[in-house]
Amino acid sequence: MRRPFVAGNWKMNLNQAEAVKLVRELAEELKSNAVEVGVCPPFVYLTSVAVAIGDAEIRLGAQDVYFESNGAFTGEISCQMLQDVCCEYVILGHSERRHVIGETDQLIHRKLQAVINSGLKPILCVGETIEQRDAGRTEKVVQEQLAGGLGDLSAAQLGNLVIAYEPVWAIGTGRNATPDQAQDVHRFIRGWLTQKFGPQFAQSVRIQYGGSVKPSNAGELMAQTDIDGALVGGASLKAADFLGIIRATAQAKGL
Ligand code: 13P
Repeated sequence: MRRPFVAGNWKMNLNQAEAVKLVRELAEELKSNAVEVGVCPPFVYLTSVAVAIGDAEIRLGAQDVYFESNGAFTGEISCQMLQDVCCEYVILGHSERRHVIGETDQLIHRKLQAVINSGLKPILCVGETIEQRDAGRTEKVVQEQLAGGLGDLSAAQLGNLVIAYEPVWAIGTGRNATPDQAQDVHRFIRGWLTQKFGPQFAQSVRIQYGGSVKPSNAGELMAQTDIDGALVGGASLKAADFLGIIRATAQAKGL
């Protein structure tokens, strides 16, 4: 069985004291968990959060990375720097980076390659806008983002891949995809992975759902066959809400 993975994407939120307080509250409750749990703070708080995690079973992730390992790239952060501060995961291709910052599939692919080569674990985000969904293009868009992001990497290289399906229209809007809508796209993604890499690999990849996940809707989303956890934005900023989502996930998966 795929171990469910619930990660909090804090985005550009919290100050240092708030970040440490939040992770301490989580660490109290998360000493050993059936569900894998991660937090992705802003770069500047990674070290303080790593220290606050202590011996709790909480993975540390970054929200982005650059593909070069060092050099004259003002403002950028490398995989090696992330590993130096105990990061294990990196979010790539989040819709806010695609749509606000203008990242392309080509750039995301270069980042993914660097992440894989470094031994970090990628969380590759895909998802359609409301216009694309209304035009019946959801599967085409998701397929292009998967193909563009993964490129010609092999199943062996992608052993640690996590995918996050985040419909853009559900992010930060309070309007989550229904369990059926989400499951349809998750099934499509797993089918695409099966065709490209074979069933054994496709069955092993965890596909998170992201977009207005809350304690109140997590259970029914996580009960879907092809949903293996969540990438949580707003609700990951409050310990009680994030813990509620983790518990709902464990319950939905019978753990
Ligand atoms: P919200 O949970 O705030 O909708 O954000 C989802 C998200 O973008 C996680 O990466």
